[in-house]
Amino acid sequence: MKRRDFVKVCSASAAGVALAPAAGGAPLPVKSYARTRLVDEKGRAIRLGELKVGANYVFDYPYAATPCFLLRLDRAAPGGVELQTEAGARYRWEGGVGTEKSVVAYSAICAHKMAYPTRQVTFIGYREAPSPVAGKGRVITCCSDRSVYDPAAGARVVSGPAPQPLATILLEHEKAADEVYAVGTFGGEKFDEFFAKYAFRLELEMGNKARAGVEATTVVLPLERYSVQWARC
Ligand code: FES
Repeated sequence: MKRRDFVKVCSASAAGVALAPAAGGAPLPVKSYARTRLVDEKGRAIRLGELKVGANYVFDYPYAATPCFLLRLDRAAPGGVELQTEAGARYRWEGGVGTEKSVVAYSAICAHKMAYPTRQVTFIGYREAPSPVAGKGRVITCCSDRSVYDPAAGARVVSGPAPQPLATILLEHEKAADEVYAVGTFGGEKFDEFFAKYAFRLELEMGNKARAGVEATTVVLPLERYSVQWARC
């Protein structure tokens, strides 16, 4: 089976995510990419317990130009959340990894018009909920058009124009070694649209490397190191 072939329920369960069949239909498949170890800038494995609660961390996966959030939430994320893609495919998100399953990862490409963290600026990030949805704890907010996602519930859309949740990045936590791996995606990916929309910019910034697959390791950075500025709303 090729690396990017679809895999079935057993693979998703191993990654801490389960699938639920669409009503009367086949399960939404997980998409498998490289099994990539999350490391810091010195190549040391990311330890879940060393992640700061509430901080924004960013890593590129599954492509060199596609950023993702790694978050240690301020609350448990036990899963069991029924979600739906823009195309109507249903799936069930079964939580994060680590203690209280509170460490989660999502594509940082907004599901609305694909705002994403660039080296210059980010409009999207994990922070205290803005006033229309205050009281929900920290959420992922895209200040481009004010979409708000709940990272403790599979990044479901809380408010705003986003038509679907952020795509989940599947994580595996190897407890014995305390190492974390990204292994695939789950939910509505936006990668093809992303590369089409930003082709010119990505070509300028990265040449032909933008769509290169991330392989053995990917570096996790605090958001303030990944993007120079954070546009707030
Ligand atoms: S691009 Fe994020 S809300 Fe529009």
